[in-house]
Amino acid sequence: MMPSTIETYFNKIERTRVWRSIFRSGTGNSTLRNALAIQQNVFLHLFPTKIRKRMLDLGATWYLGTLTLGTFIVLVVTGILLMLYYHPSVPQAYTDVKDLRFVVSSGLFLRNLHRWSAHTMVFLAFAHLFRVFYRGAYRAPREFNWVVGVLLLLITLLLSYTGYLLPWDQLAFWAITVGTNISSAIPFIGAKIRFLLLGGNLVNANALLRFYVLHCAILPISAVLFLAVHMWRVRKDGGLYVRASEPSAGSTHQHASEELKKQ
Ligand code: HEM
Repeated sequence: MMPSTIETYFNKIERTRVWRSIFRSGTGNSTLRNALAIQQNVFLHLFPTKIRKRMLDLGATWYLGTLTLGTFIVLVVTGILLMLYYHPSVPQAYTDVKDLRFVVSSGLFLRNLHRWSAHTMVFLAFAHLFRVFYRGAYRAPREFNWVVGVLLLLITLLLSYTGYLLPWDQLAFWAITVGTNISSAIPFIGAKIRFLLLGGNLVNANALLRFYVLHCAILPISAVLFLAVHMWRVRKDGGLYVRASEPSAGSTHQHASEELKKQ
């Protein structure tokens, strides 16, 4: 069959020196070449080089982890765009959010996309947790990834909570007042946690700045770091969980060395 124009075009690009200096090995018909293409890419190497077809079935994961990751990416992109219009200061925060609604073109869409993606991410992370639990995918050797998952869920909830204060309206102010008062009920260290969260004893400019830094820097960076560990662990734990009755995937290294021996 004749290759299509687009295919020829891509083949040409793949042969250029610039392309080959970045992507050392292209994909091909052999398992070894495909495995190398994944192993040698900084982003792709987080994922397994070889998986069983069964792992891609909708019923295996309901794609819930992947969908949670998808909403996180939407949140990062829309969040960065929102940062271009928002100042975390008491005189400006509320009017900035109002301007987003009434002045900035597509501002309302941007804000709502961020908001709805946040709600969806919380829902999907819980759904993913229940899927992992009911399928028994938390058992050895995946216990550590379960713990990383719990941390990710905690970060997701904290991201949602810290974002709540940023519009600086009545709902935000009282939600954070109530929330931080709840945290002060923790025995012995409660008052200290509240003080640390608010940067003082009141929900004021210090609290707004702290929640902004937590929401836009500390928590998203932590989420990215833990997500990298989470994805890498899936690979190290032998790919996604499939029942014992299903055929074993074997290790990629083993498979690759077998192919090398054949050559
Ligand atoms: C920010 C939230 C999270 C994201 C973005 C995320 C992402 C993912 C992805 C993409 C996968 C592989 C595909 C899939 O299973 O759908 C996965 C697998 C896994 N996740 Fe998560 N996850 C999150 C939270 C959690 C939570 C809350 C738990 C449990 C407490 C958890 C435990 C696991 C485990 C044990 C696996 C391996 C499952 C298997 O082998 O079948 N994750 N995660």
